[in-house]
Amino acid sequence: MLKVLVCVSGGGTNLQAIIDGIEQGKIRNTKIVRVISNNPGAYALTRAKEHGIEGISISPKEYENRDAFHKAFLNAVEDASPDLIVLAGFLVVIPAEVIRKYRNRIINIHPSLIPSFCGTGYYGLKVHEAALERGVKITGATVHYVDEGTDTGPIILQKAVEVKKGDTPKILQQRVMEEAEWIILPQAINMIACGELQEEGLC
Ligand code: GRF
Repeated sequence: MLKVLVCVSGGGTNLQAIIDGIEQGKIRNTKIVRVISNNPGAYALTRAKEHGIEGISISPKEYENRDAFHKAFLNAVEDASPDLIVLAGFLVVIPAEVIRKYRNRIINIHPSLIPSFCGTGYYGLKVHEAALERGVKITGATVHYVDEGTDTGPIILQKAVEVKKGDTPKILQQRVMEEAEWIILPQAINMIACGELQEEGLC
């Protein structure tokens, strides 16, 4: 059984896609053991609760300095003893110590086709604003391993999405979530759970 810890910051639609994937059998041999949010008001925590999944909030604002937050975050991760950490709309930089301890066992969903529109400052709606600004005809989403950089780890899966005439950032974000994010993130977790990604050494 692959034990998964999911980190969230907002609405939790990617978390919901994982929950649904497990409940519908599209993600096999997997259990979400904990959800961590840096935002106590994140609706993602409500989604976790509705499905009987433990959700906790660890916000940098609650700690006197970044080191204290990092320590609390690391404890909350290790306490859950996950096999895989999934960043699903998580807007906080993962402490280097966590990346070291969980090398090749942390994955992230990014709402563009990396290497386009990624890196520092590219998150949420900003990604889609940049894609529309540049005038790309195709965008999409990427699941990648997390390393010390920002959106720089090895790519696992990508899925392309058409940009349509009249798209606003909000409309494009919704299409990228529906047609790409909510498909490839569960798919990547299932691949890891079923040993199709040997390099991470989980299987
Ligand atoms: C989405 O745009 C996703 O691409 C990015 O974070 C945003 C919110 O995701 N990773 P969610 O609804 O909280 O899963």
